[in-house]
Amino acid sequence: MSGKHVLRGAGLAEWLNEDIRRLAYLIEYNPNTIIIADRSATIEYVNAVFTSHTGFRADEVVGRSLDELGLDDLSSITKPYRWQNILAGDVWEGELASIKKDGSQFPEQVFVLPIADEAERVTSVAFIKRDITERKLAEHGLLELTDTLEKRVLERTSELDASNRELKETLQRLQNMQDQLVQAEKLASLGELIAGVAHEINTPVGIAYTASTHLRQSARDIAGRYDKGEMKRSDLEDFLEVCLESSRLLISNLDRASELIRSFKQVAIDQSGEGMRRFYLREYIAEILLSLRPMLKKTCHEVAVAGDKDLVLHSYPGAFSQILTNLITNSLLHAYDEGQAGRLEISFRREESDLYLLFRDNGKGIAAENIEQIFHPFFTTNRERGGSGLGLHIVHNIVSQRLHGTITCQSEVGKGTTFTMKLPLIETQETSDE
Ligand SMILES: Nc1ncnc2c1ncn2[C@@H]1O[C@H](COP(=O)(O)OP(=O)(O)O)[C@@H](O)[C@H]1O
Ligand SMILES: [Mg+2]
Repeated sequence: MSGKHVLRGAGLAEWLNEDIRRLAYLIEYNPNTIIIADRSATIEYVNAVFTSHTGFRADEVVGRSLDELGLDDLSSITKPYRWQNILAGDVWEGELASIKKDGSQFPEQVFVLPIADEAERVTSVAFIKRDITERKLAEHGLLELTDTLEKRVLERTSELDASNRELKETLQRLQNMQDQLVQAEKLASLGELIAGVAHEINTPVGIAYTASTHLRQSARDIAGRYDKGEMKRSDLEDFLEVCLESSRLLISNLDRASELIRSFKQVAIDQSGEGMRRFYLREYIAEILLSLRPMLKKTCHEVAVAGDKDLVLHSYPGAFSQILTNLITNSLLHAYDEGQAGRLEISFRREESDLYLLFRDNGKGIAAENIEQIFHPFFTTNRERGGSGLGLHIVHNIVSQRLHGTITCQSEVGKGTTFTMKLPLIETQETSDE
């Protein structure tokens, strides 16, 4: 407000006198419904909006009681509100249902204002009301919207749940299929292994069989001659020859067969009774070398070991023994010519949570086309000198299955061969003593 309309001090009364008509105008055409009632709730005044909203003309309601008219659900005002309290000077604000002339209802925001005289006695009560039908509708719409949104969210959630379940099931099926594949693969390689073993054992057993039937035939022949008294000295000598030769063949071939069976058993990592224990790796390697002394003594190779002598493993010592024994035997068998002096190196180091175990020789090396196959069962380039082709397969199984590690081979023809094993220490629970 500005200029002469400032409501201040004596100016107010002056302004009121001058502009009382303006005030009346303001009330009459106020966008809110305004009802003025006296202390007994008899309507004294209603403005123009009242008429347009309710359909009641002013002369139809003035002089009548709010209660009697049922204009408002007055009980809902008077109850939470209490007419006495209004008359005592309290204001009240709230929502209630108003009634139109045609009997229909509509929601209104109501402000009940007691009007007091100079002695502060409430002489009349003003109701200032605003139609809130639209707001209510909007609220209702919002509620409905929230409702449908909630419903849709629920629907989506259950859809997602369903597809999630489907995904899980698919995953499970894939997992099962993979397990089956792994199982099939294992069975296939087992079948391959058995076929190989049968094939390998067939030769020495076949030779032994031939030798024994030959021996039996010779024994029958000589027995026949002896019975008839026809046996000559040379017959006996020939027979003894056959006996010696046959028994030599029998022994060497049965040896070979049992050796094959022994290796075959190892393929399955049959180490029952051999559990985990704590051991110093460096010291244990020395023990392994000691057990190989008889074999190494026949050669002029030098064996070097490098690695922290304080490193303690909690693992399967037997596994380490089998691995190194196989690798050393291979070097002796495949890497050097007779009488050649080589150098074998065993070294290990710790890198974060892994143990790296390296075995190296400076021998002939492995041809590139063979490298791929050396870990396959029965791959050997040295069958004539007794190779079974199982050694590196066994090593591979021990490293991957028992020690949960990996083994790789690098080799260059003429330079030598290196096997690198990476063994997780979590599996072996390494601890280091000082
Ligand atoms: N240190 C090595 N130097 C050269 N060749 C090797 C060495 N170790 C393994 N090999 C090759 O790998 C093949 C497979 O080895 P292995 O599985 O132990 O079978 P086997 O010793 O019975 O032949 C050997 O026949 C040989 O050709
Ligand atoms: Mg071998």
